Amino acid sequence: MSRIDTLLATMTLREKLGQLNMVASGYAVTGPLLGGDSPDAIRSGDIGNLLNMVGADHVNEVQRIAVEESRLGIPLLIGLDIIHGHRTMFPVPLAEAAMFDPAAWALTARIAAVEAWNDGVALTFAPMLDVSRDLRWGRMVESAGEDPFVTQQMASAKIKGFEGADLSSIGALAATAKHFCAYGPVLAGREYASVDISERALHEVYLPPFETAVKTGVAAIMPAFTNLAGIPMTAHKPLLRGWLREKLGFEGVVISDYNAIAELLHHGVAADLAEAAALALQVGIDIDMVSNAYRKHLPEALARGLVGMEEVDQAVRRVLALKERLGLFDAPYRRGSSPPATVAGGLDHREVARDMGRRSAVLLTNRKGALPLAPQERIALIGPLAHARTEMRGPWGGAARAEDSVTLLEGLRAAVKTDVAYAVGVDIESEDRSGIAAAVETARGADVVVLCLGEAAVMSGEAASRADPGLPGQQQALADALLALGKKVVVVLFAGRPLIVPSLLDKADAVLMGWFLGEQAGPAVADLLTGAFAPTGRLPVSWPQAVGQLPLFFAHYPTGRPYNAQDHYTSKYIDVPNTPRFPFGHGLTYGEVEFADLRTSHAELAADDTLRVTATATNRGATRVEETVFLFVRDVVASVSRPVLELKGFTKIVLDPANSGTVAFDLPARDLGFLDAALKPVLEAGAFEILLGTTADRSRLLTAMVTLKT
Ligand code: IFM
Repeated sequence: MSRIDTLLATMTLREKLGQLNMVASGYAVTGPLLGGDSPDAIRSGDIGNLLNMVGADHVNEVQRIAVEESRLGIPLLIGLDIIHGHRTMFPVPLAEAAMFDPAAWALTARIAAVEAWNDGVALTFAPMLDVSRDLRWGRMVESAGEDPFVTQQMASAKIKGFEGADLSSIGALAATAKHFCAYGPVLAGREYASVDISERALHEVYLPPFETAVKTGVAAIMPAFTNLAGIPMTAHKPLLRGWLREKLGFEGVVISDYNAIAELLHHGVAADLAEAAALALQVGIDIDMVSNAYRKHLPEALARGLVGMEEVDQAVRRVLALKERLGLFDAPYRRGSSPPATVAGGLDHREVARDMGRRSAVLLTNRKGALPLAPQERIALIGPLAHARTEMRGPWGGAARAEDSVTLLEGLRAAVKTDVAYAVGVDIESEDRSGIAAAVETARGADVVVLCLGEAAVMSGEAASRADPGLPGQQQALADALLALGKKVVVVLFAGRPLIVPSLLDKADAVLMGWFLGEQAGPAVADLLTGAFAPTGRLPVSWPQAVGQLPLFFAHYPTGRPYNAQDHYTSKYIDVPNTPRFPFGHGLTYGEVEFADLRTSHAELAADDTLRVTATATNRGATRVEETVFLFVRDVVASVSRPVLELKGFTKIVLDPANSGTVAFDLPARDLGFLDAALKPVLEAGAFEILLGTTADRSRLLTAMVTLKT
């Protein structure tokens, strides 16, 4: 008999329900606390899993209670949110997405996994794979942006980075793909609100990243808090049991979101906690995160016949199997043991954080070569985010220490020989304008004002939707006062989403989108401002002109009345343009690459052919540049309308001044398929437009036509 069969044959119902129970540890100044009756509950087998426990000593102590003092000695599973680093804070996921570099995405996950492993953690609640097209929703910051193809690439890179070759290997963390699924299109961008989208959008946009996650071998899945077209995801049988377990064959663990099983009562699909627990278990949720519905109410659900013992056993089997895959039975104290796990190549994690930071920032505007700064320019650094150690790191601070963060003030002062005067001006959110006059005085003595503005870390992430996502507090007033001086003004924005800041974008000499770049944000931004590093980040989301344009994304369907300035009765707003302020892919650098000569290997393509698409790139500037190139397609005529642009690939090219090179994509003809009117996959013959370029602004893309013969 296998270990799991032997255990299952020995376990009492109480011990089985303990394995399905995850509780949260508290925090104290000295570290995580396991308060109340939790140690006793571990001894009695009532707790099989913990979240938010960090630090090898703490973890090994609770693990010792489980292994040495509980009847069956089953080790605990320790889970933690590791969203953009653990001890070392990297850029937030939306910022990382701007790198368009799967190897970099995997590297930061690997480093985070190793650091968390050394802290006793075995499971992370990441990556977040919710396609995000509405920046009012604060969790856009945790996503890879608006595009499903990019999110798929992020899924496989992050999962490989976290999990390594094998979950029992040194430094490996079990990953959780979340939040399953379609959490991004919550109604009007409001957190935890319901979702009502088409079956087509579900299958073509929101599910593919989860399919990639399962195919990459993700260990766990977390259902979303939300209700999808009337069915809460925590009780969504067609998607959790049908699509995930039966269609995709997912055999890993499904973990509820925090208290989500108890929240089925608020959703109005369960009358009491026994019903809620039965519903969640029946759809295949194995671990109940903190609601205690399983532990306290499944016995009643069993007695009432709402659920069967075989469903309990199946869930326990999956939890034990994950613990076995993680090597917890054989070596429960190995995580956090000495010597610590390291990342191959012995990388300096802080240097990696700095490099990721400077590669994630996006240069939005740069008038008359305002950037990079000239070495002799005297700088006044102003603003509430210029020297805000933890704010600039963003939400989900992990186990990082505030003192490890380097602010822009510190980064700039270390990078330049000239004076850097500093004034805070205003707070991030308060209405107090009394510091503006002093900030203006500080700016008077400088040649250039670097204005560092944006959101507080808590203004994005979970429970952080914004209906009016501009500059909070009196920051615009500060900017207006400084812009009125007539000096060169360079704006650095730190925020978890694009911000609606039209006047800054119009009036400042340059605007750099710094997102939240992690603990090395200061040196990273300083590298970009001084030109020590030329910007390479590109927008993973369309940047709107106005909130009223939301949701805004490039892969929308065509309309029967495309916009025509001469015709009133065409699709438009009468007060703002249809187009974004900056398209997906936008990002300037200190140079310019020109693309020409788009070629395709075939004019006619058979179903099993692969189309090679090439173009010539030439560096027209005076510095070495790295450019990101996108491949889009448009299915011109099909049995159902297809999006006006669909992303099929991205790549990079690095060119020295005056040099040319070739960018190439291989596009299998099967990637031109889609779901027909009955949502069945089809590959239809006909004409396809192939488009290549650096943004989703179709007017600037090179195009060619190919015909698919099936
Ligand atoms: O993993 C998170 C999830 O994304 C949101 N609710 C809480 C969970 C655990 O911290």
